[in-house]
Amino acid sequence: MSTYDELIGRDDVNDLEAILAVTNSDRDAVISTVAQHAEAIFTWDYTKGERPALDKLYEKAKVSMWNGETDLPWDTPVDQEQLVVVNAEQNAAQGLGLADFDVTGTPFESWTEQQWIKLGIESQNWTLSQFMHGEQGALICTAKIVETVPWIDAKYYASTQVMDEARHVEVFAKYLDTKLSGYYPVNAHLKMLLDDIVADSRWDMTYLGMQIMVEGLALAAFGFMHQMTTEPLLKQLLRYVMSDEARHVAFGVLSLKEYYEQLSDAEMLERQEFAFEAAVRMRDRFMQQEVWERMDVPVKEAIELVMRTPTRQLFQMMLFSKIVPNCKKLGLLDRNDQWLRRRFEEIEVIQFEDWVDTSDEYERFALGEQLEPTVG
Ligand SMILES: [Fe+2]
Ligand SMILES: [Fe+2]
Repeated sequence: MSTYDELIGRDDVNDLEAILAVTNSDRDAVISTVAQHAEAIFTWDYTKGERPALDKLYEKAKVSMWNGETDLPWDTPVDQEQLVVVNAEQNAAQGLGLADFDVTGTPFESWTEQQWIKLGIESQNWTLSQFMHGEQGALICTAKIVETVPWIDAKYYASTQVMDEARHVEVFAKYLDTKLSGYYPVNAHLKMLLDDIVADSRWDMTYLGMQIMVEGLALAAFGFMHQMTTEPLLKQLLRYVMSDEARHVAFGVLSLKEYYEQLSDAEMLERQEFAFEAAVRMRDRFMQQEVWERMDVPVKEAIELVMRTPTRQLFQMMLFSKIVPNCKKLGLLDRNDQWLRRRFEEIEVIQFEDWVDTSDEYERFALGEQLEPTVG
């Protein structure tokens, strides 16, 4: 069994100093290379529909394509400053100010309205940038799945997802470029995770890292943002992306369920450890450390304050609302003396274990369906 230090590079999962010490060191580089060690697998068994659930998903994907250029209202004007102000007014209606926490005695005490607005704008630029980078991770991972998965139904389905992910990268990049006011390089924690997923030689690890962990989190984060944003173009963009993402997570759950049923305890432990590492990396990335650096405030102090606010804690937990039930469905929580359950207890996300898993939830996310709110 690995130690925390071996898994995540620190002994204490909440060691903020260690988390912040991980930074992106090549911010100006245009490309980044990762060696992948997986073997490409041909299959000569072309029997379509041998895995009916994957076949159904593939047929569904074929008729669910949309066009990011023509299906979204790109002529919608976006005023970032105005959006931050509207958001703040919503906070005010709940008795909260621009800060949504008590600023007395903190570095924020002397902040002007302009500084708060800048924070809101930077935060949005950062969030959308990281979504875009994550989408590219998905593009690369699903192309890898096409090569490495041994089943024809899965190769067929994964190929549709490659197209989906290209479209997602495209629409987030266009939104950043034409509607927002700045761009952030990939967050170092997110990049470490993407590199680990791509580098792994085992085909199911691409699925676990990307389809279950990264996409499970993305689906929850997009849902949260879709519900919160008052900007109509972004709302629609997220709605379209989510209709695809729900299928992607289902693909992961349906494929791995079959495969994990026959793995030994030792093999399962490696998967449990990988899931935990991924969960921690994603939790770390959402601290938005690069935003605080740009705002010129003491980063550690700022993060400690903000992470304690109720809105932030709710958001932070909601991110795991899809991941935990899906891990449970795959048998990852309780194998090896409940190893992953204990870890999820430690990072306080186990309460989602009995929420709906995503194996057949994708119908509910189809375009034209009414989405239920993610939070009450
Ligand atoms: Fe995507
Ligand atoms: Fe996806």
